[in-house]
Amino acid sequence: MSIYVLGIAGASGAPYARRVLQQMLLLGHDVKVVITDAGRKVLEVEEHLVLTGNTDADTPALIDWTESKGANGKLELYHHKDVAAPIASGSFHIDGMAVVPCSGGTLGRIANGVSNGLLERAADVCMKERRRLILVPREMPVSLIHLRNMTSVTEAGGVILPAAPGFYHNPKTIDDLVDMVAGRILALLGVDSKIMKPWLGTKSQTQNTSEGIY
Ligand SMILES: Cc1cc2nc3c(=O)[nH]c(=O)nc-3n(C[C@H](O)[C@H](O)[C@H](O)COP(=O)(O)O)c2cc1C
Repeated sequence: MSIYVLGIAGASGAPYARRVLQQMLLLGHDVKVVITDAGRKVLEVEEHLVLTGNTDADTPALIDWTESKGANGKLELYHHKDVAAPIASGSFHIDGMAVVPCSGGTLGRIANGVSNGLLERAADVCMKERRRLILVPREMPVSLIHLRNMTSVTEAGGVILPAAPGFYHNPKTIDDLVDMVAGRILALLGVDSKIMKPWLGTKSQTQNTSEGIY
């Protein structure tokens, strides 16, 4: 069992967060979740998930959203302004963190050490403790400022994983596309999820008839 932090910022791509969180919980990992105000807005727009900002009330709503009731993993939700939460300190062990999706604003604050909210502080801690940090930006096109911020995070040891699913797996549904991104995030965090099958070359494409092209 591992402990992960999942930050949800105000970029488009809430379904990626839902799938990552669901898999972590179902596979028995504990997840500390932090959502920015804009992240809550996007959850409302894209997933029709209305959160109040009250962590006690919002926790069951998040579990319902991920369809992970009864999972062995424990979800703990922290308010974005709760900078005294355990994950604000490097002394509290976590195994890794992902920000899914990551807005340009959150990317900029993390890249520049502006830790005025819990999400950015937890990411800052992750980098200083040399723990795995994955940011999943969703923006197009990107400006030079975005690119520089992505470079800074990469130089500090973070991983930039753009929400850019490939099509070589011949996706049939939106869920297939979501799984391609979510699967890569989980794999980079060491979560043994089976939602994304590896590419085995073009030969296996013609050999595999029932499972699609993997
Ligand atoms: C529906 C919606 C979609 C958005 N999509 C994006 C996006 O894809 N990428 C992005 O960087 N910002 C996006 N934004 C803008 C951010 O939410 C905004 O810059 C916000 O201040 C970011 O705050 P945060 O970094 O604290 O989450 C979106 C906003 C809304 C309401």
